[in-house]
Amino acid sequence: MAYETILVETHGKVGLIRLNRPQALNALNRQIITELNAALDIFEADKGIGCIVLTGSEKAFAAGADIKEMQDFTYPGTYVDDFITSWERLSRVRKPVVAAVSGFALGGGCELAMMCDFILAADTAKFGQPEIKLGVMPGAGGTQRLTRLVGKSKAMEMCLTGRFMDAAEAERVGLVSRIIPAAELLDEALKVAGVIAGMSLAVGMMTKESVNRSYETTLAEGIRFERRVFQSQFALADQKEGMAAFVEKRKPNFGAG
Ligand code: CAA
Repeated sequence: MAYETILVETHGKVGLIRLNRPQALNALNRQIITELNAALDIFEADKGIGCIVLTGSEKAFAAGADIKEMQDFTYPGTYVDDFITSWERLSRVRKPVVAAVSGFALGGGCELAMMCDFILAADTAKFGQPEIKLGVMPGAGGTQRLTRLVGKSKAMEMCLTGRFMDAAEAERVGLVSRIIPAAELLDEALKVAGVIAGMSLAVGMMTKESVNRSYETTLAEGIRFERRVFQSQFALADQKEGMAAFVEKRKPNFGAG
């Protein structure tokens, strides 16, 4: 498929998607979301891909939903079109997804990053939910995911004032997993994704599903879910391979499922 607003590459078992509307700081319009979703569908279906990296440019991961496109939207129109629901495709990807954020991750850009499994941030990264300055509030999960990630006080302040958070603060409060010098961000993200893609795909997907379950259920139910999935992994060839490799003091060769 020919894309106009994203760049798609594969690096071994890693699928890389770069948001690419430099003239608009990767503002998220209908086209970019449609193309992102198409690329995600392809990587999700490709048995050779074990992890996906989502990134933007050096200046912007994404500066939010496209304000120029949105300004004339109406309530009946957004209701009938179910505006924003299509963005949720990213949050339903079952394979691990790493966000590599450099520069601005604002509004819908921050929300897209938070739909990924973890965020690696360049030291230049700036996160924010500035929608309130436009007379709206976050609409792609910001009030929910940011609150779960950084707690009520910080999320309230971010959403009510629209102030930006730099990479150091984002790491301190747990929004990002690590800070990396901007020039090394993509290489490091591909390296980390390569490590993940080198593990058992089935176990990676089950691990993601189990961690995500912790957001949606009680501790007792979550533990029960984890226990059942863990027990089921003794049916995997990858479990036999992983443990045999340890005992035989060699590297495991995962991939049999
Ligand atoms: N939508 C549309 N265009 C955008 C955009 C956006 N979200 N963000 C930046 N652009 C465009 C600018 O209009 C500008 O285009 P022109 O040259 O044609 O005017 C170009 O990108 C470069 O931007 P700036 O000149 O503003 O660059 P800057 O370095 O001076 O400032 C910035 C950068 C602080 C990120 C500033 O662009 C900005 O504040 N952008 C808007 C951020 C924002 O409010 N995001 C939330 C959007 S609402 C949302 O996301 C709703 C939701 O929850 C789903």
